[in-house]
Amino acid sequence: MSDGDAADAVNTADAPAIEANGLRYAYPDGTPAVDGVDVTVESGERVALLGPNGAGKSTLLQLLGGLIDPDEGTVRYFGETEDADTVRGRLSVLTQNPADYLFNPTVREDLAYGPTQQNLRDGEAEARVDRVAERLDLDELLSKPPFRLSGGQQRRAALASALTVEPDVLLLDEPVSDVDAANRETVLDLFDELAADGTTVVVSTPDTELVPQVADRVVLLDGSGRVAATGSTRAVLTDTTLLTDCDLRPPQVVRLFDGLADDPPLTVDAARDRLDGDDI
Ligand SMILES: Nc1ncnc2c1ncn2[C@@H]1O[C@H](COP(=O)(O)OP(=O)(O)O)[C@@H](O)[C@H]1O
Ligand SMILES: [Mg+2]
Repeated sequence: MSDGDAADAVNTADAPAIEANGLRYAYPDGTPAVDGVDVTVESGERVALLGPNGAGKSTLLQLLGGLIDPDEGTVRYFGETEDADTVRGRLSVLTQNPADYLFNPTVREDLAYGPTQQNLRDGEAEARVDRVAERLDLDELLSKPPFRLSGGQQRRAALASALTVEPDVLLLDEPVSDVDAANRETVLDLFDELAADGTTVVVSTPDTELVPQVADRVVLLDGSGRVAATGSTRAVLTDTTLLTDCDLRPPQVVRLFDGLADDPPLTVDAARDRLDGDDI
């Protein structure tokens, strides 16, 4: 192998999971939802798409996941291809509507649907369903018709169906809205485990409190389908003016520590650690 080949091999392994350039998308009624957006998501990164209602988060997530095609611009996956279908098995997208994923007679069949398309060895699809259901406390719901589930249960079931394909990249639109506190903890713990295993996770949310729990980097969208800023979670969440300009508020703890500490904690847990140490 020549040096050039070696460099190529390394580059491919290190290529961004998703690289989007110049994305534009307007809905048929003319609403410009995404208006010239560049986003790069490195492999293994945890990224939040943060913005107010109507900022274009859901549209951008669908563009990044190849569910809709941009009017202009490109999305490239793993440095290799612009065709989302060729990487479909490595990518799982959870849109904002759980009902998109729940169309079988039972929750179990919905969770098994993705893996049964994947040519797995016998029993593997069922094993994955059982594993994910146990992990997300869905065992009791597996035999139910999905339309009988509550809103939060449906969202967790839809999330589970995105996980049973064991994707390299997860794109999740507001994955814990309507989910109660205990289940939210369970879901967020699972995201931590997935990230530790190298899964790339992109979460869209309007909730600045959620961001430090799910992302190391933020793509901040303003109210008009454009990127207002990208930066570390800390840099974005402590920039009060920037957030206010985007109709968002910094997390409560950041506001509490404003003026008291140069580098405020971002979460209640981090604040408690700080106070325990008597060191604001
Ligand atoms: N199907 C649609 N038809 C027309 N306009 C839409 C449609 N879906 C979303 N929009 C508009 O596109 C913009 C971006 O929406 P969306 O991506 O859902 O934002 P977010 O997820 O950040 O709340 C908003 O102005 C919204 O009203
Ligand atoms: Mg949305």
